Amino acid sequence: MRISVIGCGYLGAVHAAAMASQGHDVIGVDVDPERIAALRAGRVPFHEPGLEALLGEGMRAGRLRFSAEVADAADAEVHFVAVNTPQRLGGDEADLGYVEAALTALRPHLAPGALVVGKSTVPVGTARRLAPLLGGRAELVWNPEFLREGHAVDDTLRPDRLVYGVGDEPAAAERATALLDAVYAPQLAAGVPRIVADRETAELVKVSANSFLALKISFINAVADVCAATGADVTLLADAIGHDARIGRRFLGAGLGFGGGCLPKDIRAFGARAAELGEDSIGSLLREADRINLGRRHRAVELLRTALGGGLRGRRIAVLGLAFKPDSDDIRDSPALSVATELALLGAEVVAHDPHAVAKVRVARPELRCVDAAVDAVAGADAVLVLTEWREYRDLDPAALAAATPARLILDARNCLDATAWRAAGWDYRGLGRHEHPVDALVA
Ligand SMILES: NC(=O)c1ccc[n+]([C@@H]2O[C@H](COP(=O)([O-])OP(=O)(O)OC[C@H]3O[C@@H](n4cnc5c(N)ncnc54)[C@H](O)[C@@H]3O)[C@@H](O)[C@H]2O)c1
Repeated sequence: MRISVIGCGYLGAVHAAAMASQGHDVIGVDVDPERIAALRAGRVPFHEPGLEALLGEGMRAGRLRFSAEVADAADAEVHFVAVNTPQRLGGDEADLGYVEAALTALRPHLAPGALVVGKSTVPVGTARRLAPLLGGRAELVWNPEFLREGHAVDDTLRPDRLVYGVGDEPAAAERATALLDAVYAPQLAAGVPRIVADRETAELVKVSANSFLALKISFINAVADVCAATGADVTLLADAIGHDARIGRRFLGAGLGFGGGCLPKDIRAFGARAAELGEDSIGSLLREADRINLGRRHRAVELLRTALGGGLRGRRIAVLGLAFKPDSDDIRDSPALSVATELALLGAEVVAHDPHAVAKVRVARPELRCVDAAVDAVAGADAVLVLTEWREYRDLDPAALAAATPARLILDARNCLDATAWRAAGWDYRGLGRHEHPVDALVA
């Protein structure tokens, strides 16, 4: 198939490379000329494991090209729209300006019979409302994306499910389904479930999935506060309730909460859209989840303040982790970056490290001091704060690191370290939402 992907960010670049890897002839289009220049040179402008190799493979095979000109996508049979849908400044709603611009730009270049497929996350009703922008030259369907940054290549090649949201007209819906089936032939052959629905359902599937995950994280964080107040241990609790197959252990990691370019803005946009429709229950549920989540950041700062005996000004704090999650350099609405920034504003001397996000932080927050090795951040620190659960930090040797700082105070805001091992190496270890001195698993 001849495919175009409009918007080559975290979603689009991966989608383009993945589609080329399964034999399609793909062109990626983006309005950012620097992004296009990097991709053309075979460089991924962000950190995503496995993407650079896939990109190089597709380009060498002649199946993957990039352009800043949408006109270069004119011969595509299927156009995927993967542009950003950020939170609107000053409101909770999604800003659909980029989707509108992409569809408008595409319109004069649509070949007869072309299909336009939205992949961006949008409020329910968007496809129906924006379809006229194509001027009747192509059908607009929605095929939401569920990839996780850090696992995006694998998630795109082997998704949990495919959801097609097609239009009301039966012949057009059938044709769109057949085209998407051809695009995703390898996934379908591998048995990936495919759900064909109306466009509204497809749009709602995506925001409902993200909202459910957000609720799960905020639920465990709310429970974590009760654990902290009573001496109970939230990680053991999560293990125990997670064994119930109806609940499951995933997304029950108590700590600093969620962030990034998706969950926060998606739950807000869902609440705003539901309110427009006169339905406020989901909005109030999600607003509470949002409030609990944002509160984690403040709680981490306060826990550190208490652990340091009250004062933050002038204290040297090693911050380990700045990305919103491990295996990504994405710092959009990153809880880690937000805590690091707050500490610096409160007068602490912050020395930060992240395995991949430092380059982005140096641009976004030039005032924050970043170093290239975790041990350099820890050296001489009054406290160490783990804010992103990178493998590199989980693998740190507490005994070796103890020599770097006489204070030996560590706040594990992601509850990702082995508390017993750190305490045994002489550290004052504290978790977020855990009692200061919990009874660790009594029987290993
Ligand atoms: N990042 C994720 O993990 C993820 C997962 C699932 C869904 N999504 C959704 O996918 C969409 C994109 O997210 P992202 O993280 O890739 O964003 P991003 O900001 O990384 O990428 C968006 C890209 O679109 C480009 N763009 C904007 N307007 C354009 C236009 N008119 N023509 C061509 N290119 C244009 C931008 O320059 C940018 O490179 C959002 O709706 C997001 O909610 C993201």
